[in-house]
Amino acid sequence: MNNRTVGRVVINAPGPTTPQMFRDLIRVRKAPAEFLVETRQKYGDIVQFPVPTVPVYYISHPDDVDHVLRVNARNYGKRTIQYQNLALVTGDGLLAVDTPGWRRQRRLVQPAFHHEAIARVGTDTAVVTDRLLAEWQQLPNGSVIDADDVMMHAGLEVVSRSLFGTDLAGDVEATAQATLDALDVVVARARTPIAPPPWVPSPLNRKMSKALAQLDSAVGRILAERKGTAGVDRDPDMLDLLIAANAPADDAESNASNGASNGANGPDHFSDQELRDQIVTFLVAGHETVASSLTWTWWLIASHPHVQQKIQSEVDEKLGGRVPTVPDARELTYLQAVVDEALRLYPPGWVISRRSDEPDVLSGVEIPGASVVIISPWATHRHPAAWHDASTFDPTRFLPDAPAPKRGAYIPFGLGPRLCIGKDFALLESVLLIARVMQFYSVTTAGAPPTTRALVMARPAGGLPIRLNRR
Ligand code: HEM
Repeated sequence: MNNRTVGRVVINAPGPTTPQMFRDLIRVRKAPAEFLVETRQKYGDIVQFPVPTVPVYYISHPDDVDHVLRVNARNYGKRTIQYQNLALVTGDGLLAVDTPGWRRQRRLVQPAFHHEAIARVGTDTAVVTDRLLAEWQQLPNGSVIDADDVMMHAGLEVVSRSLFGTDLAGDVEATAQATLDALDVVVARARTPIAPPPWVPSPLNRKMSKALAQLDSAVGRILAERKGTAGVDRDPDMLDLLIAANAPADDAESNASNGASNGANGPDHFSDQELRDQIVTFLVAGHETVASSLTWTWWLIASHPHVQQKIQSEVDEKLGGRVPTVPDARELTYLQAVVDEALRLYPPGWVISRRSDEPDVLSGVEIPGASVVIISPWATHRHPAAWHDASTFDPTRFLPDAPAPKRGAYIPFGLGPRLCIGKDFALLESVLLIARVMQFYSVTTAGAPPTTRALVMARPAGGLPIRLNRR
């Protein structure tokens, strides 16, 4: 194609013109994930948006996705508006931190996600699910619940229990509420064409300051209480592991082969500010994501009765009525495939962004240094180069004997060095919660197919009614 210029940016890839982009704005605001799917269909695997200040490319082919997130990850950091806005809430926690400080943090955080620590998720999920079942027991058979609302509460309770244990109920609630309020502002900022800088006392910025003050004081109380009980003999939760975290001086093995920067070396323990940032990061990253994925999975199960029957047969055969445990989750291979396939069709993290350091080439197009690169798991999970009949819900794609997806084609948890650290946590929680519910209930749809509301996470617009029928 012939290059043209918009503002100070050279446009060297196909994509909408500026007037077209203005015409598309309503669609972008209403259904951004679908907009990205349509944009690929219209313009191809690499698209450039006509932004006058910085080159902005959107890539969707699995090979390019693999290249940016894994093969040449060293060249692509997180200095993007998406992560800068998120960092207003999470600070430089593990999710938003740019490459230089990331490796030290990842090493310090890792023990909180080791197998033994994750085993705790099993116990916490069982407690939370049994509380749900007890509540539902009080409802008349055939009652309709809002799966979105119920899963949001359950997701918060599991991540809070795993993170803080159980003895901090009031502060945990205050922390979670303040986190959600602050995230609302992040979304509102992202949807405002010119958001004033954080120091301007605009209504949004004042709302953010209030939420952050609440967040900081609640996390401060949790940390103070925890320090007051240091040395007390208890089953360690994730916060205990973060406080105790101790990074080895350097770790050559973990720097190898994944394309990541070695990162800055820093103190071998987290400071109080860093602990605050990690706590908020886990609440942000580990709550709405799992909740949203569970909600969509319930929708898919309810609307595919033959899939539901298979899940129930597997659960009945493998568990015979007892509470599912962590080792059981590995045996429930059909249910796992259902969760994987739901994450393909409805990846909660529907967009990932990066900024290039040096020039690179993607799909034959030269990408200048300092370009923004947008990747959408939502769109790549529907790419015809990797997925046959992509819009059909078909869990058999993920059964153990099915061929593995093409590299870069399946990225609900990202890819490469910045792969989600909570992946096992999320999958375990999802499989155990669904398995336990399926022992007692069948679910059916109770409304029209949901439309998507893609803000920080992709969730069903207006909730998701599901009918509970006792088995
Ligand atoms: C279904 C549930 C989840 C989904 C779909 C999900 C998705 C993702 C994705 C796509 C990324 C990569 C972002 C990027 O490369 O820019 C990511 C990173 C991350 N996730 Fe998750 N996540 C889930 C659950 C969790 C849970 C339960 C936790 C923690 C309790 C968590 C903590 C994190 C953290 C800390 C990172 C940053 C890792 C790093 O950069 O080293 N996530 N997640």
